[in-house]
Amino acid sequence: MNFTALSEPEPEVLAKAAQLLQSGSLVSFPTETVYGLGADATNDAAVQAIYAAKGRPSFNPLIVHVDRLETASKLAHFTPEALQLAQAFWPGPLTLVLTRVPTCPLAQTVTAGLPTVAIRVPAHPLAQALLAQAGCPVAAPSANTSGALSPTTATHVQNDLGHKVDLIVDGGSTQAGLESTIVSAYDTPCRILRPGPIAPQDIQSVLGYQPEFASGSTAIEAPGMMAKHYAPRKPIRLNATDLQTGEGLLEFGQSGLSAPQCRNLSLSGDLKEAATNLFACLHQLDHMPITGIAVTPVPHIGIGIAINDRLQRAAAT
Ligand code: TXA
Ligand code: MG
Repeated sequence: MNFTALSEPEPEVLAKAAQLLQSGSLVSFPTETVYGLGADATNDAAVQAIYAAKGRPSFNPLIVHVDRLETASKLAHFTPEALQLAQAFWPGPLTLVLTRVPTCPLAQTVTAGLPTVAIRVPAHPLAQALLAQAGCPVAAPSANTSGALSPTTATHVQNDLGHKVDLIVDGGSTQAGLESTIVSAYDTPCRILRPGPIAPQDIQSVLGYQPEFASGSTAIEAPGMMAKHYAPRKPIRLNATDLQTGEGLLEFGQSGLSAPQCRNLSLSGDLKEAATNLFACLHQLDHMPITGIAVTPVPHIGIGIAINDRLQRAAAT
């Protein structure tokens, strides 16, 4: 494993990363949301290596990353609404679940045998450059052991999967901090399978209606939306209004609580900043000498919906 500690990787690093992808190796790279664990999505063995490295159940399909809409349209059928969403939010933190076209070259393992495929065009310049150079669609789940906290820095990837990845492209901390919003758009009305940086109101402004969230019973469509996910090793207590002995504190805004071991998602109460900081704060608290993590309430609006989604899954037992 080569660890390239460069905030702006040199052309040789990107060329090496692209070459590794083409030869079926695993490369971790930054996106604007979290770090991905990438492999050539048309190479069945490479895709299987992703599942093995993450310890991910084979029934949980992966997101395919491409450089632009035109490339995506060779993989899946775009409904009029899907096209509207892609034009509005790509490149960016939106994943569309669409029907595979009959000529789709993706390995069956990428989509876990489903007739649909999750696709996104990431905005991060390093991800863009890598996809363009590799010239293949890249399957990339978040670069963490299945069920564990998502990585927002190269160090997070290194600590969790370092020995299982061929190269980590280091682009510093990711900006959005939460995984992409997943929208099922193969039929109408569209539905949100996973809340994320693109809020329901953003989608409403494009489609003219606010998509519903897929309920728990339809979550089979997004097998990764398991109740327990994104979990630190320490127990999490949500909507805390007090502190129990031994607990560390994860605070949003000025809660009035204080603890010796404490992180604040956003002192000024900014939800976007809180999203950016969420996983890094949880990673840090997880390594502190505390028995659990008390989390103060986060407003359930805009990207706060996605923050609460991740916190609830992290807290699930
Ligand atoms: O921001 C992101 O989306 C990051 C970065 C690396 O791009 N990727 C990511 O991938 O979060 P992952 O594998 O951790 O989450 C993919 C989610 C899972 O919940 C999976 O079940 C769902 O997408 N998914 C994939 N294909 C699907 C499909 N055909 N239908 C429904 N859900 C699907
Ligand atoms: Mg994940």
